[in-house]
Amino acid sequence: MSKHDMSGGELEPIEKASLDELQALQLQRMKWSLQHAYDNVPHYKQKFDDAGVHPNDLSQLSDLAKFPYTTKKDLRDTYPFGMFATPMRDVVRIHASSGTTGKPTVVGYTKNDIAMWANMMARSLRACGGTPDDIILNSYGYGLFTGGLGAHYGGECLGAAVIPMSGGQTEKQVQLIQDFKPTIIMATPSYMLTIADEMVKQGLKANETSLRVGIFGAEPWTNEMRKEIEERLGLDAVDIYGLSEVMGPGVACECVETKDGPHIWEDHFFPEIIHPETGEVLPDGEMGELVFTSLSKEALPIIRYRTRDLTRLLPGTARSMRRMEKITGRSDDMLIIRGVNVFPTQIEEILLKNPNLCAQYQLQVSREGHLDKLDVYVEIRSDLSENIGEIKRNEIGAEMQRQIKVLVGVTADVHVVETDKVERTLVGKARRVIDRRSK
Ligand code: DLL
Repeated sequence: MSKHDMSGGELEPIEKASLDELQALQLQRMKWSLQHAYDNVPHYKQKFDDAGVHPNDLSQLSDLAKFPYTTKKDLRDTYPFGMFATPMRDVVRIHASSGTTGKPTVVGYTKNDIAMWANMMARSLRACGGTPDDIILNSYGYGLFTGGLGAHYGGECLGAAVIPMSGGQTEKQVQLIQDFKPTIIMATPSYMLTIADEMVKQGLKANETSLRVGIFGAEPWTNEMRKEIEERLGLDAVDIYGLSEVMGPGVACECVETKDGPHIWEDHFFPEIIHPETGEVLPDGEMGELVFTSLSKEALPIIRYRTRDLTRLLPGTARSMRRMEKITGRSDDMLIIRGVNVFPTQIEEILLKNPNLCAQYQLQVSREGHLDKLDVYVEIRSDLSENIGEIKRNEIGAEMQRQIKVLVGVTADVHVVETDKVERTLVGKARRVIDRRSK
């Protein structure tokens, strides 16, 4: 078998279903999901009642537009478990991702949810050409982040051999690639390039490893970056998409034979594209914000969740289910720094708890090699500026850096500066984020 042979295995019947069959299943499941949310989550009942809608008002898929949107704020308002629709005795897993402030967004799964997730990840792996013969190096982080465990269960469900490496320890990653000879790697695309750099540093040929396929996601990446990774590592680079609120990795995934945008696994996740400002539903093909409704999830049914990711829906190609174009940006200010989701407001909250600092701050994101670098500039309170010298400012900066690492999970260089040293725009508006990474 050649290195690039794509014996992807049998498709599930639903992956080959006609549009009519798929839509019939979606309608049946959507009715169930709306009713389940309404009956078991008081927050959904309240929101539906306030909007004057009831699950019975859904008689065709387009009726979904009558129902209210869900956002991160709903999850924050009901923190930690208020959106769960099943009793805790039925919940077997809890994950969390960044909220816009100190409180994370919490998600839960029943046994059936975990099985469905593993199946969708296994389906994604098959779409990437994965088979039970593969050895998978899983370099997504294990822990509260859904990447590690989500990918892990999918690999096992497929019957492949999974190496639970997690992120970091780049030298060890290279050693395992040399010794265990994995055929598939799963990582953030920027981390893949860091691994490639480490191979070069060690005098190894990065494009002559056992790796055949790389499955990359959790952060935006372009087709130019795909080209770079494929050339440097001699593998097929495939895009996988997902988010914790909807499930985790494997909501959508590209097929290796086409690499033309992730196919959304629409039998479980119903997509819509809306105008990010007016909230109006847009037809397929138009750019807007991606919205998801879960069709089968038990512990955390999610109805019209606004992902803030900008893209458009495209017709199916290698599979009949629709594709989404590669994510081009977000409609909010969330940054993804080394795979960690960061909201400027999270950092603001930490800075302002320090009585010496004021709300004049700026985040500068750049790239050092292939890795993101975050610098935080914050001013000392103007009335204290004269009394606080450089040594004390450095001390405060080090303490802020520590708190940001612990609470947000990202390494930042914090520069505590004198009054008026943080840039203001001409109209006096703060410019909170400067992102110098080339997209
Ligand atoms: O990042 C889940 C995941 C893990 C996906 C591993 C793929 C691989 P969250 O931490 O909740 O979940 O972050 C979700 O990450 O709304 C997007 O903004 C971004 N994102 C995820 N996948 C992609 C991708 C995981 N393929 C947020 N391209 C999403 C661009 C992505 N952005």
